[in-house]
Amino acid sequence: FEDFKIIETASSVPQRVVDNDELSSMMDTSDAWITQRTGIKRRHVAVEETTSSLATAVATKLLAKSGLKPTEIDLIVVATMSPDYLTPSVSAMVQGNLGADQAIAFDIDAACSGFVYGLKVVRQMLKADRPMHAILIGAETLSKLLDWHDRSTSVLFGDGAAGVLMTNQSGDSGSFIAEDLKTLGKLGKHLTAGQVGVKSPFAAPKTSYSPFFKMNGHRVYGFAVKNVPESINRALEKANLTVDDIDCFVLHQANERIIEKIADTLGASMNQFPVNINEYGNTSAASEPILLAELVAKQRIKRGDVIALSGFGGGLTVGTMIIKY
Ligand code: ACO
Repeated sequence: FEDFKIIETASSVPQRVVDNDELSSMMDTSDAWITQRTGIKRRHVAVEETTSSLATAVATKLLAKSGLKPTEIDLIVVATMSPDYLTPSVSAMVQGNLGADQAIAFDIDAACSGFVYGLKVVRQMLKADRPMHAILIGAETLSKLLDWHDRSTSVLFGDGAAGVLMTNQSGDSGSFIAEDLKTLGKLGKHLTAGQVGVKSPFAAPKTSYSPFFKMNGHRVYGFAVKNVPESINRALEKANLTVDDIDCFVLHQANERIIEKIADTLGASMNQFPVNINEYGNTSAASEPILLAELVAKQRIKRGDVIALSGFGGGLTVGTMIIKY
């Protein structure tokens, strides 16, 4: 059986849209500040939706587009840092909701690099001597982890989910080309969220913990503009390709300025770096598949195109995967 290929893409975002002006009426911020620093204009925020309901909607669309039955799915992986529960996993909930009884399901957490890390995991699991179908979804409701009194983080993020249906069966197009993944755990303290405290009757009385998202924006910015181009260059080198050979870079949408800086460092044109952060904010593990699904729908990405997906974020983690779509 061949290396993996992506058959379908789909996304699902919450109904409620919150624009920068609405945030400005809630806290000391402005459309001008948010737009200038990040490129974000509005974001979707979950009201009724949950990470699992958004992920289930994505999986349902993938099945409908492909014509596959739920029982034809062998593997469901959800990349998330904002699951409904610590257990069951979001992917197990999706499996149950779909009735995908033959699929094994588990989540992975590599924060905003989750989709690229997920591609690596699913790729390995599709190396089998039988035809297989897998669903990989990035799904987040970061709004529930944010301190809505902290303007330095709450304006940056949005909720949403998107994913891909993958197979190892041979066909006309699509294949793995090269990858580069790296984890810098020593820098993890610069981006933390959802700390789970020690609370038993035996715990030290003053043990305190923070459920909220905390980020040293400057450190993460510096990490991204250095490590993402390095990761892309290592992947290009392994593939024996140059920047000009990439039809489209599908980058994690954390900040438009970061994407512009990365393009500049690589000596690439911004035409190769489509951006949709203005509509969604930073949706962590969902941002690359949301962009991918949009670009495929618009035919900006076509069969046979060489694309580089690159993510970075909590962990700290970074990862690039180059594929033929
Ligand atoms: N509205 C208005 N003013 C604000 C806001 C706000 N929402 N937030 C901060 N400010 C103020 C600050 O208080 C500061 O004021 P001061 O100069 O009086 O002290 C001023 O604006 C400048 O703040 P900076 O933090 O220096 O702004 P900066 O230009 O660095 O932009 C940002 C901040 C956008 C967070 C940037 O550092 C960044 O993008 N960092 C990377 C974040 C990222 O990419 N994360 C990805 C990983 S996320 C994941 O893995 C889930």
